[in-house]
Amino acid sequence: MPVLTVIGAQWGDEGKGKIVHYLSQGADWVVRYQGGDNAGHTVVIGGESFALHLVPSGILFSRPRNAIGNGVVVNPSALQGEVRMLEGRGIRVRGRLFVSLRAHVILPYHIALDRVREGGCDAIGTTLKGIGPCYEDKVARRGVRVADFLEPETFRELMCAAFSAHSAELGRLSVARLKRETLAAYPGLRRFLEPFCADTGWLLAQALSTKRRVLMESAQGAMLDLDHGTYPFVTSSNPISGGACVGAGLPPTAIDAVLGVVKAYTTRVGLGPFPTEMPERLAGRIREKGREYGATTGRPRRIGWLDLPQLRSAIRVSGIGRLALTKLDTLSGTDPIRACTAYRWKGRLLYDFPASRRAQREARPVYRDMPGFSGDLSSCRSFADLPGAARRYVRWLESELRCPVIIVSVGASHEQTFRRSDGSLWG
Ligand code: GDP
Ligand code: IMO
Ligand code: MG
Repeated sequence: MPVLTVIGAQWGDEGKGKIVHYLSQGADWVVRYQGGDNAGHTVVIGGESFALHLVPSGILFSRPRNAIGNGVVVNPSALQGEVRMLEGRGIRVRGRLFVSLRAHVILPYHIALDRVREGGCDAIGTTLKGIGPCYEDKVARRGVRVADFLEPETFRELMCAAFSAHSAELGRLSVARLKRETLAAYPGLRRFLEPFCADTGWLLAQALSTKRRVLMESAQGAMLDLDHGTYPFVTSSNPISGGACVGAGLPPTAIDAVLGVVKAYTTRVGLGPFPTEMPERLAGRIREKGREYGATTGRPRRIGWLDLPQLRSAIRVSGIGRLALTKLDTLSGTDPIRACTAYRWKGRLLYDFPASRRAQREARPVYRDMPGFSGDLSSCRSFADLPGAARRYVRWLESELRCPVIIVSVGASHEQTFRRSDGSLWG
């Protein structure tokens, strides 16, 4: 069954949107399976830049259909804004976008709760999109699913129950205001959402039974995974490849191949451990060159060197068999280029990402320095076009990670991408 899962192998913002869009030329379906509008996936085509948050990156080619799976948390108002933006720019969305009836709905009180919690001393630097509180309601079995949202009486009942569960934290005045706002916006949002809603798991099963090609698009990245990331500084879902089955309603046997997207260095937004974080003097230069500012919140991204123990654990957990390497052009002019090969902690060398938060905080990277390269890489269109030192960096990475780099990206736009091997990516 031709299913290819594309996941972010670091802390998000690896360039998943660009790579998924690049691959979606050959796909019949593109599916988001977790996260919500905390994601910001940038696609640049013909000089035009699109920032997608909920809509899968396949929407920009006319061929693929696009699904927002049951594992995604959907803010109907954010989705409406995104659909309007796309339609306003000439992209056909209706009839090509399907939202799972089983996906959970983000309501204004989730955003209010996110704000309350991030205002306290346990802040983790969330995107303030209400993601964590919505997943909490899902796990607590008091969430509102898309199917419930479409039924006005059920919606009203569930919303009132949710408000009573959260009233202490929100405060009486806030509850009254949020209820009023939610009910005022409801009829319009319900009318907007209804035509998109479908049993997406069933649609995907039909597609697979006729050998259609399905591309799964993760949001966030392996290190922001709720179970396998830098807990508690993570998002509240599972971006790893295992999350694709749960979040789209596909069996594990349906996934043929997993492609990991890796940035040529590392970035992170928000708080939490980041062992290879660079001193600001160097980070600032790379941030400006690579325009490392959040696509959702505009926050400056923290910058670090490539981290092999981190990547090894991402590859292991998600069964990544091939890599797409992005932003190699941004590293040009940095000399030497460093990469962390192991961590040192309590006198021991660690080759995999440690579980304990203390180890994550205290582990010190062991670096290897490699000669840098210079010049403008953005017009390279094949591996042979790259400077020798850049080719050596890529080959070294492949041998250290025992994973081939099959796609290289040297700029934000679609054309600035090349494959290193022919043959199908769909396993
Ligand atoms: P995503 O969340 O993984 O989809 O990544 P983002 O879109 O949040 O961040 C990646 C940023 O890098 C975006 O601004 C992209 O347009 C840009 N980008 C992607 N690949 C490349 C590349 O190879 N070189 C450069 N210079 N920019 C890139
Ligand atoms: P894409 O898909 C980078 C981070 C936030 C915060 C943590 C929890 O564009 O790669 P949340 O709002 O999810 O509860 O925040 O996760 N985060 C991201 N960082 N890229 C993203 O998405 C992110 N989505 C969430 O900064 O540290
Ligand atoms: Mg992003």
